[in-house]
Amino acid sequence: MLQNKVIIVTGATGGIGAATVKVLAQAGAKLILADIGSAGHDLARELAGQGANCKFVETDVSSESAVENMVSTAVSAYGRLDGAFNNAGVEHRGMPLHQLSVSDWNKVVGVDLTAVFLCMKYQISAMLECGGGSIVNTSSALGVVAWLHASEYVAAKHGVIGLTKAAALDYGGQNIRVNAILPGTINTPMVARANSDPALTANMKKLIDHHPIERFGEPREVGEAVKWLLSDAASFVTGVSLPVDGGFLAI
Ligand SMILES: NC(=O)c1ccc[n+]([C@@H]2O[C@H](COP(=O)([O-])OP(=O)(O)OC[C@H]3O[C@@H](n4cnc5c(N)ncnc54)[C@H](O)[C@@H]3O)[C@@H](O)[C@H]2O)c1
Repeated sequence: MLQNKVIIVTGATGGIGAATVKVLAQAGAKLILADIGSAGHDLARELAGQGANCKFVETDVSSESAVENMVSTAVSAYGRLDGAFNNAGVEHRGMPLHQLSVSDWNKVVGVDLTAVFLCMKYQISAMLECGGGSIVNTSSALGVVAWLHASEYVAAKHGVIGLTKAAALDYGGQNIRVNAILPGTINTPMVARANSDPALTANMKKLIDHHPIERFGEPREVGEAVKWLLSDAASFVTGVSLPVDGGFLAI
């Protein structure tokens, strides 16, 4: 389905990222895994051992020079760029808005929104050189509705949806599709951290009741939706925000 497509995945060693990388590798993609820290070397080795074509590039997506390096590494390694899953993210502090510091705000907006702009800026430049591509950005169900004590995260994830639509319009005529996925609550390290944070635990308990499917999602279930959006099977789909949320947004 993605045979020989060159695809960058950010946040590649996290819950959703690592599961998606495995789904994309099984579909035949050539992958650049990007994440902060060096854990991605192990994941790249594991996948290469299973026959996947992949490289890890240590990348802080909130740094413009690191993002430029991530994209140029993909192009120099594989000669082109066909797809990207801009998925790196950090969670909110779990505090009401007036208690947030400017640095709390900047941290979440910097990784969850500004970095998506930075990644698309360099990815789209590379895709224009090779005739098109497909980008999927990770927003959240909280990109459409709010949740208590999450204003910096809610604002950033709403922003990702706007940015996705704007980019879809700008590049629709140049064969570049841009879509967003909106996960509900997915069993990942981010959710495990939130579950163990006393400031967030009460809110987490309310969350489970909010999924009509009556469970949290698994990272692979997000990866399958990303695979479809990245593939030519979704060739007439652009500018959409696809919930993968167990019905969260249907309530
Ligand atoms: N898990 C959920 O319930 C859920 C729901 C909705 C949206 N999301 C979004 O899905 C994405 C993945 O989240 P996850 O649940 O897998 O979390 P996770 O914490 O398991 O993974 C996030 C990954 O992003 C990486 N990262 C963080 N800051 C980075 C930076 N500056 N540069 C590069 N990489 C960085 C982390 O190292 C980590 O590997 C995030 O954007 C998150 O907001 C998650």
